[in-house]
Amino acid sequence: MFAVQYHRYGGSEVLSVEEADEPHAGPGQVRIAVRATGVTPADWYLRSGMLRDIATVDFPHIPGMDAAGIVDEVGEGVTGTAAGEAVFGLVPFVDQGGAAAQYAVLEAWAPKPRSWSFEEAGGAAGNIDTATRVLEALGACDGMTLLIEGAAGGVGTVTAQLARARGLTVIGTASEGNHGFLDRLGVVPVTYGAGLADRLAALAPHGVDVVLDAAGKGSLAELVAIAGDPHRVVTIADFDAGRHAVRYLRSEAGESPGWAGLPLAARLADHGRLTVPLHAVFPLKEAATAHDVSATGHARGKIVLTVP
Ligand SMILES: NC(=O)c1ccc[n+]([C@@H]2O[C@H](COP(=O)([O-])OP(=O)(O)OC[C@H]3O[C@@H](n4cnc5c(N)ncnc54)[C@H](OP(=O)(O)O)[C@@H]3O)[C@@H](O)[C@H]2O)c1
Repeated sequence: MFAVQYHRYGGSEVLSVEEADEPHAGPGQVRIAVRATGVTPADWYLRSGMLRDIATVDFPHIPGMDAAGIVDEVGEGVTGTAAGEAVFGLVPFVDQGGAAAQYAVLEAWAPKPRSWSFEEAGGAAGNIDTATRVLEALGACDGMTLLIEGAAGGVGTVTAQLARARGLTVIGTASEGNHGFLDRLGVVPVTYGAGLADRLAALAPHGVDVVLDAAGKGSLAELVAIAGDPHRVVTIADFDAGRHAVRYLRSEAGESPGWAGLPLAARLADHGRLTVPLHAVFPLKEAATAHDVSATGHARGKIVLTVP
């Protein structure tokens, strides 16, 4: 099969489309003919080698942690799907990558919502998994107010919509050019940076109940002060979390509480309550450009690669 691969850590120039060994569905897994796959910041963090002390990769490495496509192999013990079904889902353990390819193995999946294109579905599963883990960890429920630092990105847009579906009010930080975009997602926009607490006082006079830091730009001290308690704050992006007594959430090998979010999200999508805003769509052969765009740190929604 063909796949995006790299043989050493480095800049996006180490990526190329080449022949690779086909994966096969193991017990509890399906294999899909990939139609689209998401590009996430972790793809280029891993590729650059900056995470090599905490998450090594085996070379050659195929990036990509989520995908959508057509089931073409069903592993032992799998029920409820069959060859030919359109699905979206997650590769077995995200650090292992593998989705930016002609075929990929999924360990968690759900039927592709009819209302989503393959591009939208291909970039959905990772963010749904993360958002679900975040909302569970925060005990998010009806009537609460959630502040998302970095709301306009891939994780932020999906977390905001899933939170709204649970009955939360969502306030999200973004640069001013993204305020109209957040507003259309039902999120109250606010500019990030110095003075955030003062700006929030006007928007949420009764305060915020829970906070997600999806930006990792060093604002945890201010976010804890805004929440009033570090236990009401989680970060997915700031390795300095421990210094602020804040929980750092990351995906682990094995079953994730986020997996249950996939079928739920698919149902919300089919009721028009969950969209996957796309920042940009590139063909697989332009994976290097897609990584570079992700590395600007200003994606508005999700970056996706399509597979011919
Ligand atoms: N631990 C986990 O399980 C996990 C899972 C998924 C992702 N992550 C991490 O979470 C982070 C976000 O991922 P993503 O996929 O959502 O990234 P993304 O799609 O690249 O989004 C980045 C967003 O950050 C915003 N931003 C940039 N500078 C900011 C600042 N100073 N303050 C607040 N927001 C700012 C940008 O908004 P503007 O353009 O408006 O500035 C942009 O919308 C990444 O670091 C990623 O690695 C962790």
